[in-house]
Amino acid sequence: MGLRDSAALLALVLAVTCSVAVAYDPLDPNGNITIKWDVISWTPDGYVAMVTMSNYQMYRHIMAPGWTVGWSWAKKEVIWSIVGAQATEQGDCSKFKGGIPHCCKRTPAVVDLLPGVPYNQQIANCCKAGVVSAYGQDPAGSVSAFQVSVGLAGTTNKTVKLPKNFTLMGPGPGYTCGPAKVVPSTVYFTPDRRRKTQALMTWTVTCTYSQQLASKYPSCCVSFSSFYNDTIVPCARCSCGCGHGGHSPGGCIAGDSKRALSPGVNTPRKDGQALLQCTPHMCPIRVHWHVKLNYKDYWRAKIAITNFNYRMNYTQWTLVAQHPNLDNITEVFSFQYKPILPYGTINDTGMFYGLKFYNDLLMEAGPFGNVQSEVLMRKDANTFTFSQGWAFPRKIYFNGDECKMPPPDSYPYLPNAAPVAAPRSGMIAAAASAFLLALLLVA
Ligand SMILES: *[C@@H]1O[C@H](CO)[C@@H](O)[C@H](O)[C@H]1NC(C)=O
Ligand SMILES: *[C@@H]1O[C@H](CO)[C@@H](O)[C@H](O)[C@H]1NC(C)=O
Ligand SMILES: *[C@@H]1O[C@H](CO)[C@@H](O)[C@H](O)[C@H]1NC(C)=O
Ligand SMILES: *[C@@H]1O[C@H](CO)[C@@H](O)[C@H](O)[C@H]1NC(C)=O
Ligand SMILES: *[C@@H]1O[C@H](CO)[C@@H](O)[C@H](O)[C@H]1NC(C)=O
Ligand SMILES: *[C@@H]1O[C@H](CO)[C@@H](O)[C@H](O)[C@H]1NC(C)=O
Ligand SMILES: *[C@@H]1O[C@H](CO)[C@@H](O)[C@H](O)[C@H]1NC(C)=O
Repeated sequence: MGLRDSAALLALVLAVTCSVAVAYDPLDPNGNITIKWDVISWTPDGYVAMVTMSNYQMYRHIMAPGWTVGWSWAKKEVIWSIVGAQATEQGDCSKFKGGIPHCCKRTPAVVDLLPGVPYNQQIANCCKAGVVSAYGQDPAGSVSAFQVSVGLAGTTNKTVKLPKNFTLMGPGPGYTCGPAKVVPSTVYFTPDRRRKTQALMTWTVTCTYSQQLASKYPSCCVSFSSFYNDTIVPCARCSCGCGHGGHSPGGCIAGDSKRALSPGVNTPRKDGQALLQCTPHMCPIRVHWHVKLNYKDYWRAKIAITNFNYRMNYTQWTLVAQHPNLDNITEVFSFQYKPILPYGTINDTGMFYGLKFYNDLLMEAGPFGNVQSEVLMRKDANTFTFSQGWAFPRKIYFNGDECKMPPPDSYPYLPNAAPVAAPRSGMIAAAASAFLLALLLVA
């Protein structure tokens, strides 16, 4: 290989690894949150815009306490008023006499209103306390909106300046937003659907999620067991970081201790900090995959999710699993299941989530802090085997974050079967990078 070739290869490899490090989820390659501003009228000193946030991520939702959207004004704009949301701070409006703006900050931060505000302060898709569903789980709930009236701004599509530096917190860090871009104006139907109207101007901002940006450590781990081997493979020690770097900087408490049973232990903190039950893995969430039964044509796995955080109820939780036999799922007991086809054809990834009003709430740590399901799969004659850990998932995500797997050489194996397993996750990682490379080359 010549010097030029190796340089080109190095550049490619760097491009691949960097895009992975910034924001690329191989199981949801098009996932993003798009913030769209539709100017619906010009005013004497600015404009009124409808701001719509659409969560196009298949399985990553925005949980309570909800989103915060921020930006920097390009000039000296102010917000006269907002319907369906509010700026967190008014800022210095002292130079205004008479009408006082809602917000004079150069870098406003806007949050959703709580449900139940008076009707005259609402608009469609607002007032959900900033909670936005994942698109794959609930498309209708994956949109959030507010209307903003901007002053001291341009009053034509030639003079208006797009806001800059968009930020999206939801509720923690992890999202990065690109620049605002003018796009073709949105076309709307009137409510009776007999007439089409059009925004005067439209721009969009795309935000993507990166788990590395959100947290240095995973927030969940996976453990395994099987009917054919007594060994329970636990979550790896300190999977989610022990000590101050991890998810429980304030330490942890024993599950049977006085404190764990005392009132007030479940009160969520304003900063969202966890209070974990002490475990060797120190994860807020553990997912257990048990290979339970073997029939002639089918096999059965049991999935259990356990919450170790005393201060968190997970509403609308999602679990994503990657396993080659998921294309032959026959029945899922007590969870919902939806295949995710990240590349259109490979049907090895799917999303599990709770049944409404039954188990869509994963309760705080304690006796009710778990949900479980069983999955029946038809054996594929060509690939099915219990050896080499084949029956265990290749990847698990909880709420859109990838969980830490046990080391590949520790998987329970069939009695008398030597662990010939070449580490599968390594092979999959290699295959995935090869796939990414191929994508880049054709792009
Ligand atoms: C955002 O997601 C939507 C829906 O998947 C997709 O059509 C769009 O191209 C994405 N935008 C970007 C910039 O990736
Ligand atoms: C946008 O953010 C960057 C980095 O935080 C900052 O340097 C820049 O001044 C900001 N731009 C505006 C217009 O506020
Ligand atoms: C601005 O408005 C004019 C007419 O008012 C229209 O022709 C033009 O396409 C608009 N430009 C943009 C970027 O929306
Ligand atoms: C979780 O939900 C239950 C029932 O709605 C409630 O009693 C409890 O206070 C909640 N816990 C937390 C940590 O929010
Ligand atoms: C993917 O697999 C599921 C069963 O798990 C099946 O219902 C679905 O039709 C499959 N989809 C495609 C496109 O193959
Ligand atoms: C498993 O699913 C694939 C794709 O849907 C199908 O081609 C195959 O026949 C199925 N295998 C069995 C044993 O049903
Ligand atoms: C069960 O699997 C473990 C590896 O996780 C292995 O060390 C052990 O020998 C297996 N047990 C039997 C009875 O084969």
